[in-house]
Amino acid sequence: MNEFIKLLKSHTSIRKFNDEKITDEQIQHILEAAMQGATAGNMMAYSIIKIRVKQTLSKLAKSCDDQSFIADADVALLFVADSYKWHRFYEQRNIFETFSDYKGPCISDFMLGVEDAMIAAQNAVITAESLGIGTCYIGDIMENYEYHKELFNLPKYSMPVALVVMGNYDTKPQTRERFDKSYVVFDESYPIITEEFIDNMFSRKESKDKDFAVKFYKRKMDAPFFKEMIRSIKLYIKEWNE
Ligand SMILES: Cc1cc2nc3c(=O)[nH]c(=O)nc-3n(C[C@H](O)[C@H](O)[C@H](O)COP(=O)(O)O)c2cc1C
Repeated sequence: MNEFIKLLKSHTSIRKFNDEKITDEQIQHILEAAMQGATAGNMMAYSIIKIRVKQTLSKLAKSCDDQSFIADADVALLFVADSYKWHRFYEQRNIFETFSDYKGPCISDFMLGVEDAMIAAQNAVITAESLGIGTCYIGDIMENYEYHKELFNLPKYSMPVALVVMGNYDTKPQTRERFDKSYVVFDESYPIITEEFIDNMFSRKESKDKDFAVKFYKRKMDAPFFKEMIRSIKLYIKEWNE
């Protein structure tokens, strides 16, 4: 197994950072590697907002479901699915007139922007980890539509899809167990999912806690943050769909 594979297989999210600064050179490497990721049509339908101001990190710690460790990060990178710049380009080149069916970015532009942004984000995470820097994705950035739009001055046709907080750290947690490959990787086509398949897939989790399903649903899907995420994502998608 080469060093790169070892690095990927030892991934863990880091939520406790120390005071050691990430250097500007390290940030440059992280950003350049992020931007070299594959991107649909080489369009780079995303933007990256680099956040280092402590006050902004503190605001995010609150607005992203009160996760206080966000305020302790040294840098946060916000990956924004972004159809706005290409839309402006098309406008400036009168594409509306040349192609009468162009009505602005549509749902497939949205999806491609999200994919591009996530590929760039994961490249940033891997590069940071290769430099010994800890990272954690923050999904709650997709909540509080109005607040985050204003905080980052986001135009229409742009949506923050991933916030990655970064910092140096003293202790690396144990890697977290994943589902077995047999429940995730299928040969050639999707199998028939039997009741037994589902029982087996969740057996390790339920052997530790027989009420795993109810507790997990209550903690995630039934929580106020999740309902807020649904509300906000619908508002973002509406921009592309109009
Ligand atoms: C899209 C996405 C959103 C996430 N959001 C959060 C979050 O808001 N807060 C957090 O502490 N971890 C968050 N995580 C990290 C996951 O909790 C973590 O990856 C998962 O529990 C597996 O642990 P590991 O990364 O240490 O292997 C997120 C991860 C992803 C991919």
